[in-house]
Amino acid sequence: MNLSRRLVAVLVVALGALAGAALVSCSTVERTVAAPPAVAGAHFVGNRSCADCHTNIARAFPASAHARFHKDDLRFAGQTGCESCHGPGSKHVELGGGRGRAIVNPGKDPAACLACHIQTQAEFRLAHHHPVPEGQMNCVQCHDPHGLDIRKPAAGLFLARGDDACAGCHRQQSRQFVFSHEALREGCVTCHNPHGSTNAKLLAQRDLNLCLRCHAQVQGLGATPGRVFIGSSDHTDYMRRATCWSAGCHSAVHGSNVDRILRY
Ligand code: HEC
Ligand code: HEC
Ligand code: HEC
Ligand code: HEC
Ligand code: HEC
Ligand code: HEC
Ligand code: HEC
Repeated sequence: MNLSRRLVAVLVVALGALAGAALVSCSTVERTVAAPPAVAGAHFVGNRSCADCHTNIARAFPASAHARFHKDDLRFAGQTGCESCHGPGSKHVELGGGRGRAIVNPGKDPAACLACHIQTQAEFRLAHHHPVPEGQMNCVQCHDPHGLDIRKPAAGLFLARGDDACAGCHRQQSRQFVFSHEALREGCVTCHNPHGSTNAKLLAQRDLNLCLRCHAQVQGLGATPGRVFIGSSDHTDYMRRATCWSAGCHSAVHGSNVDRILRY
């Protein structure tokens, strides 16, 4: 969806609010922009009012996805600014700030995010998913609500940007190996759908197509028509029997300390 259509969607919400409509959300192709949480008696004051006290968060915020359409314009404060998640802030500011003082802290509650990200909610309903709906995990373990591109910045050199969130919990797959699988440079999400998937282990594809995207198969190489090669190796029989990562094949798909071709 292009910028102007997104802005239109935001505008429609703003107008809806002006009209005092009971309808609190407005669907766009990608997102719904839900009404911000309520704070009794308070009105919007805009991000600048927060910057005086919350310097670090305010400095990080312009680089975040949620700031992409933010304007220094009070009409949009409730849709794209700090107050879209924290509610109108005038009373909090008047009181000189403080915990529990006329401001909403969504904490770890995924509902605060899912109000707008309806598509994400559907992904977490798929058969295999990270246990967010079960309350064992939450959105902000993987997404920084205030920071750059909303994903936590990468610390390691090997893992792709954004993957250190995964590494925090899945050390076994994320560590450095003697024989690393270069696919990991493209990120865990080349093979896994991080929210949920219809396939076991959150795999993006359930069969060898997961691997053939990058490892081209060559038909009838040289004098052996009808045979399928990957690199210089005849894979015809292997590919009939099993998937690429079945036991005895490339089961060390994340990397191996002993085998260059990732069999164990
Ligand atoms: C006059 C200073 C000041 C201003 C202005 C201010 N805050 Fe705060 N705010 C604080 C202080 C102090 C705390 C206590 C926690 C801390 O020190 O970070 C706090 C806490 C919070 C919390 C956590 C509340 C909780 O119950 O855990 C949120 C969320 C918050 N502020 C959001 C905002 C937003 C959004 C704005 C702008 C609309 C804003 N603040 C403006 C001083 C301020
Ligand atoms: C996309 C929603 C979202 C937006 C936009 C957002 N925040 Fe937050 N904010 C959160 C969530 C979620 C938490 C709780 C995070 C946690 O508990 O790990 C939080 C926590 C806070 C806290 C409390 C931090 C603490 O020490 O507990 C402050 C202060 C705060 N936000 C200020 C701001 C300011 C200032 C802005 C705008 C520059 C802003 N937020 C924009 C979602 C948002
Ligand atoms: C008021 C509605 C609203 C709320 C609440 C909200 N978001 Fe967003 N979010 C948006 C919009 C709008 C965008 C930007 C849309 C775009 O770039 O296509 C966005 C962008 C994002 C992106 C980046 C998407 C991309 O394509 O780069 C992530 C990740 C995200 N939000 C996660 C969260 C999380 C986590 C929370 C809860 C802490 C949250 N959002 C709360 C509306 C919201
Ligand atoms: C296990 C870590 C993890 C958790 C938990 C998680 N996300 Fe994500 N999310 C990711 C990653 C990684 C991406 C980037 C996917 C990509 O680049 O293909 C992403 C992408 C997104 C996007 C942008 C792409 C899209 O799907 O439109 C949004 C919005 C988003 N997440 C929202 C959420 C919300 C809301 C929650 C909580 C209900 C959540 N995420 C929980 C890891 C996570
Ligand atoms: C806060 C900890 C945490 C983070 C961060 C996290 N995960 Fe997970 N992951 C889990 C938990 C808990 C499970 C469910 C384990 C279970 O059901 O046995 C899981 C399950 C999985 C599974 C399925 C495992 C199986 O045996 O079925 C995959 C694949 C996975 N995560 C990949 C990722 C990726 C990729 C990322 C980064 C985008 C990530 N995880 C981030 C905790 C986390
Ligand atoms: C080249 C594709 C690919 C990439 C990239 C990838 N994985 Fe996997 N992952 C797989 C496959 C295939 C399986 C299923 C293995 C099986 O069923 O034995 C798997 C399984 C898993 C599991 C379940 C436990 C296990 O080892 O079977 C976790 C957790 C996991 N991956 C996490 C990650 C994390 C974290 C990253 C990024 C650091 C990542 N994966 C990158 C293909 C990949
Ligand atoms: C994002 C692209 C990508 C995906 C997807 C991918 N790989 Fe790779 N893989 C690479 C690259 C790049 C190399 C290193 C260059 C090479 O040897 O082709 C590599 C190397 C390998 C090697 C070592 C080959 C050798 O001769 O050194 C094996 C084995 C392998 N991959 C298996 C798999 C399996 C199994 C899957 C599916 C689960 C898979 N790959 C998915 C990119 C990918």
